[in-house]
Amino acid sequence: MKLIYLLLFTFSLSYASVVTDYLNSLENEVKKENSNFKGFDKKRGEKIFTAKHLGKKGKEISCVSCHTNNFTQNGENIFTGKVIKPLSPKVNPKRLSELKTMKKWLKRNFKDVYVREGTALEKGDVITYILSKD
Ligand code: HEC
Repeated sequence: MKLIYLLLFTFSLSYASVVTDYLNSLENEVKKENSNFKGFDKKRGEKIFTAKHLGKKGKEISCVSCHTNNFTQNGENIFTGKVIKPLSPKVNPKRLSELKTMKKWLKRNFKDVYVREGTALEKGDVITYILSKD
């Protein structure tokens, strides 16, 4: 019986998606600071995503400003006017599929809106929110 669990565990580990791996590593990071951590929360993530903040360029913006709050539709970069493809991996399979891309844009985008990098908790919450939406 134990062997079966071990095999299943190994199987699920090796086939875990990139975003699941990333969430797990963020969770480990959070747990180092807070051993009572109960998991990422889409409600907190929604707040991070929708709350307006005096951004990098001195203008009130939120993540919604560029991505909209409908992740199945295109957004628009408010600074460059360029179209941004939908954030939802359900309609845009390339989304959240590459660790380097996720890290790069979360870092950059948190700086755009919050004028600092996101914490592991914030990044985990906001990704959980994006994954929770249709
Ligand atoms: C100034 C416009 C702008 C704002 C504000 C913005 N983003 Fe982005 N975001 C982009 C652009 C541009 C890309 C990359 C282009 C693309 O992938 O289509 C991107 C990509 C992403 C990605 C995709 C990574 C991947 O795997 O494809 C995530 C996740 C993301 N942003 C989250 C956020 C979050 C969370 C916030 C708020 C803290 C935010 N964005 C605010 C412009 C913005």
